Amino acid sequence: MNTYYFDNGATTKVKEEVLNEMIPYFSEEYGNPSSVYGIARNARKAVEEAREKVANLLGAKRQEIYFVGSGSEADNIALKGIAYANQKRGNHIITSKIEHPAILDSCQFLEKQGFRITYLNVDEQGFVDLNELKRAITDQTILISIMFANNEIGTIQPIEDIAKIAKSHNILFHTDSVQAVGNVRINVQEMGVDMLSLSAHKIYGPKGVGALYVKENIKFEKIINGGHQEKDKRAGTENTAGIVGLRKSSRTCW
Ligand SMILES: Cc1ncc(COP(=O)(O)O)c(C=O)c1O
Repeated sequence: MNTYYFDNGATTKVKEEVLNEMIPYFSEEYGNPSSVYGIARNARKAVEEAREKVANLLGAKRQEIYFVGSGSEADNIALKGIAYANQKRGNHIITSKIEHPAILDSCQFLEKQGFRITYLNVDEQGFVDLNELKRAITDQTILISIMFANNEIGTIQPIEDIAKIAKSHNILFHTDSVQAVGNVRINVQEMGVDMLSLSAHKIYGPKGVGALYVKENIKFEKIINGGHQEKDKRAGTENTAGIVGLRKSSRTCW
């Protein structure tokens, strides 16, 4: 009996060419990208090439891409990192009721720490109401986080309009794009997005690797503490093979 897999929203099969590019980074090029000798320099080069490729995919600059362990981690860093870095400015965050648990659970976690969260309603097609969004904004609002494409019903939110509203109130805008990358053309500069999360396993890459785009000069608190990797913003020896997999899957997206 043949098995047919259709749930590419849950995860995708790693493409053969992606796997083939990853394998040498387990067996030969196993250096720690933060070390100083030859084998480490090869790993560092691969990680930095990947950063360039992911930046190209999003219309971002390479220094605006941070590699992380999953889409969930990218979401956690975006919400908590921005909340902690901006708590002197305000304590209010706006999101929607249909976000992925990585966002909703992070919001509930922040609520326990004194942050106030507004969860926007959606209509029967899953769209947020931009007037409700505007009404929810207060002088305490520091962040709006609205997903790009929904993981259950596929609704693609009016990201550029939301970004304009955020910008006009001097509020940061994050979008969970885990389900959008690879399906929708994205240019963070043109769209006015400040932060964006993505995950390799949704675009024919490996599980356990993601990326967070953070627009240059936006300050966010470090959430995973330890070493100084990722410009001292996310500790942990880089998953070189996984990042190489993300590099290749980014290139095969379009
Ligand atoms: C919209 C959305 N955000 C975040 C995630 C979490 O990504 P990851 O599985 O890489 O943690 C998913 C995964 O299904 C998702 O669909």
